[in-house]
Parts: sequence; structure tokens; C-alpha cells
Amino acid sequence: MDYQDKNLKYTNAEKYDKRSENSILEKYVLGLWQPFLNKIISNLSINNMVVDLGCGTGEYLLSAKKAKKIYAVDISEPMLEICHEKLKDFNQAEIIKMSVLDFGLTAADLIITIGVWEYINPEKLFKKIKEITRRGSKVIVVFPNIYNDLNLVRSIFRMKRIALRPGFIKKLFKADFELLESASFGMVSWVPKKLQFLTLPVWKFCDWLWLPFQNFLPLGVNVYYLFERE
Ligand SMILES: C[S@@+](CC[C@H](N)C(=O)[O-])C[C@H]1O[C@@H](n2cnc3c(N)ncnc32)[C@H](O)[C@@H]1O
Repeated sequence: MDYQDKNLKYTNAEKYDKRSENSILEKYVLGLWQPFLNKIISNLSINNMVVDLGCGTGEYLLSAKKAKKIYAVDISEPMLEICHEKLKDFNQAEIIKMSVLDFGLTAADLIITIGVWEYINPEKLFKKIKEITRRGSKVIVVFPNIYNDLNLVRSIFRMKRIALRPGFIKKLFKADFELLESASFGMVSWVPKKLQFLTLPVWKFCDWLWLPFQNFLPLGVNVYYLFERE
């Protein structure tokens, strides 16, 4: 299957935005990741030109209110319909329906790539990021971590790649970008939905315990990197 075929899954945009309502696991993970990323995006977007590649319903762009200009790029019409609604008061936002690989603008100050690396050939996505950045541009990279138990089990059962190796992403960026910061948390594991309330305290404990070591061996459900173009 070509990487680009995988986005077909995202036709139910409303369900995507409500994914934490019926799942303890999703609620825990989003409760950790969304505030963390919102804060970073809010700080880095001030007076800057921001490009969100694979913006989905635009949830994270809501934190970029103070950006000078926003380009929200996604290939999915249903996701962008909700994005339009969410960003209706953002006069500086342009919502563009196209593959991120066809996006042609250059010299962005901040590129956001959250939850899109597993849908697109990472080498091609990186090449595109190189094209649209200049010296000093920052890139937020968030992807599912293959070293996390849940991602590993899902990958094995579905027999397809749904998560990436942190070392692989770091290597892609190494020659042209400096790694400014990194993080990984949400140490969830595969558990049947009905039993997740039992494992929630265990996940929380593991997150607390492993936090100082996440930079050496990331075991969280996602990995976050902030790169700067050299
Ligand atoms: C998991 S969602 C993430 C959405 C958003 N970044 C977030 O974190 O809420 C992945 C998104 O990537 C988009 N996508 C996948 N392949 C794409 C491509 N080739 N070009 C543009 N968008 C793509 C999908 O349509 C979907 O909206």
C-alpha cells in the first residue's frame, strides 16, 4: 500500500475529534499531549509564518492565533471542513486541500507535522520540509513511537507500519537541522477497552517513573522533536 492511501481512514472527521470521548486510553494520551503541544505552538507561532502539514481538523492551529500567516494543508476534504469552522476567526489562515508533497511555498518560520509521518513516505516528507524551510526555521515533529508497547502490538496485529523508530527520524534531520528539544510520554500499553480503567493508574505510574529516561530511551506513545534548520 502506498503511504498516501492510508489517509482514506480519515473520512470521519467528527469521530476523529471526539476520539477521546469513548476511550480512557485516548483521553489519557490526548490529555497529556494536547496541552504540551498547544503551549509550544502558541510560543513559536507568534508573528511567524506557520505551515501545518497534515493539519487535519486544525486542532493544533487554534494555538497559533498570534501567527502572522497560517497555511493549513491537508488532503482530506472532511477534515478540512471542520478546520474551516475552527479557524473561521483566523483572518490570517489559508486552508489548502492538497497533498503536503505538492505544497510549494518556501521560507516558513514554523512547520508543524503532527501525526502525519506514519501516513506519508518519511523521506519524501523530509525532502518537502527541506524545500520549504530556510536557515532558522523550526520544525515540530510528532510521530507514533515504535518502542511503545501499544504501537508495537498494533503494528504486529495489523501487519503494517503504524509507528516509526525515533533514531530513523533523527537520522533524516541530522545533516541539515539541529535538534533543539525532545520529549516522549504516554506510556500506554495494549489493553482491552473495558479494562483500561484498571491500567490507567499503572500507565500514570510508568510515565512518572520513566520521565527522566525518556530522552535516552523513549517509550511513550508519541515522540516529539523540535528541529531548527542550520
Ligand atoms: C492523524 S491525522 C493528524 C491531524 C492533525 N495533525 C492532528 O494532529 O490533529 C493525519 C492527517 O494527515 C492527513 N494526510 C495524510 N496524508 C496526507 C498527504 N499526503 N497530504 C496531506 N495530508 C495528508 C490526513 O488527511 C489526516 O488529516
